[in-house]
Amino acid sequence: MSIVYLNGEYLPMEQAKISPMDRGFLFGDGIYEVIPSYQGKLVGFGPHIDRMNNGLNSLDIQFIYSHDQWREIATTLSEKNGAGNLGIYFHVSRGADTKRNHAYPEDLTPTVFAFAFEIPPEPVADRNLVKRYKVSTMQDLRWRQCNIKTTALLGNVMHYQQGYSEGNDETILYNERGEMTEGSAVNAYIVKEGKVITPSLDKQILPGITRLILLDVLRQQSSIPVEERVVTMDELRNADEVWLSSSSKEVVPVIEVDGQPVGDGKVGDIWQKAQALFSAHKYNY
Ligand code: PDD
Repeated sequence: MSIVYLNGEYLPMEQAKISPMDRGFLFGDGIYEVIPSYQGKLVGFGPHIDRMNNGLNSLDIQFIYSHDQWREIATTLSEKNGAGNLGIYFHVSRGADTKRNHAYPEDLTPTVFAFAFEIPPEPVADRNLVKRYKVSTMQDLRWRQCNIKTTALLGNVMHYQQGYSEGNDETILYNERGEMTEGSAVNAYIVKEGKVITPSLDKQILPGITRLILLDVLRQQSSIPVEERVVTMDELRNADEVWLSSSSKEVVPVIEVDGQPVGDGKVGDIWQKAQALFSAHKYNY
């Protein structure tokens, strides 16, 4: 039985109820986070909460739990749900209104929901064990504020579904200039001549916490060069390696883009080094 958190209470998932007038339900008017927890140990907790607070600020949702309050919820959910390999999901919507008005109503009490779901065991940097990703590509048709981790995810869902319906594991997106943005639920990277290259942070992509940790670990703990800049789709197609990252996957290698092999079609050496470094240092964030 799954125990969830709703507005200050822990209760079985079946008993957690929200109003159909909740603006999260009607408008996708809310912010969420997914934080990995392995046997109760959290990865990137502080940066995840900071990103959530930035998102709430940008939507003008007046709500704040301290880092300690969120940590208490994450720890309690982990304990109540078996303390295994869990994604801790936090969600704050603007709250339930009595009417459906586009304008932000004043004095709503935000709805706070959190639950834990199972994620794969901690990834290991082993090219024989890692899942090899195959991806589709597609023009990024989402809105222009993809830096906000809003619960309004239909654009991402539709992009994911496109890749899935083509038998692939993700969809890498590009803008109208043929520049890679990110995947439907992941950040994206190429490796060329030993250099790791990923799009710079702007409103076209989510500032991923796995990305933040990975780039910092590569810079602090290795001599592998890292560049944040525009990556064209031609560069993607001619890359030696392609990677994706997210909280529940860490860093994963892509071996096929639109049916064409990446590099020699094998999992790359630099991926193996990067995932090993990520595994060694991720709990420091
Ligand atoms: N997805 N880009 C998008 C569009 C995402 O939805 C995600 C995360 C990322 C990676 O961010 P992070 O490293 O902070 O997880 C990039 C989450 C896990 C999800 O929606 O389930």
